[in-house]
Amino acid sequence: MNTTQSDRDMALETIPEFSNLQVMSYLIMTHHEFTRNIMEEIAELLDQARRELDNPPPELAELTGIWTRYQSEMLKHLYEEEKILFPWIGETTQGSRSTAEISKTYSPAIHAMLTEHEHHEDEIVHVRKLADRLSIEGGYVPVLALLAYKLKQLDTDLREHMEIESKLLFPRVLGDKV
Ligand SMILES: [Fe+2]
Ligand SMILES: [Fe+2]
Repeated sequence: MNTTQSDRDMALETIPEFSNLQVMSYLIMTHHEFTRNIMEEIAELLDQARRELDNPPPELAELTGIWTRYQSEMLKHLYEEEKILFPWIGETTQGSRSTAEISKTYSPAIHAMLTEHEHHEDEIVHVRKLADRLSIEGGYVPVLALLAYKLKQLDTDLREHMEIESKLLFPRVLGDKV
């Protein structure tokens, strides 16, 4: 399902009022779906740029070199949230159990996912810098301009995504903010 920017702006204002189940369903329907789709588009643009350009800028090779791993690690992260972490949050936070009771049911894996949650920050920063350089150096080449644009969209979306998980949803579960 696709949502427009204005739908998202409205949703961001109301998200703190959502239940945990609503927050998780919002994350999956918008951010997870968007991330999967745009990473696919970026992979296709990388292929296209390699085929079309005789003199590609060095950023293209650098990006191609890290992209397969970046994409597969991100897919794994999304999958683990959807199949392991979110169902656990859904089960444990239904009803009237206190955070102290909930914390007794943490397995080490769940606890690690909640407290060490990160989206491969170093790689995100690396990709962000490459996108900036690409838009400066390749801005006049359509395929590179589009690639830089898609990378920036991914970056913006990820910041929002991480903020909802790390500053709203997980602190609720961990008891820092109920
Ligand atoms: Fe997520
Ligand atoms: Fe996440």
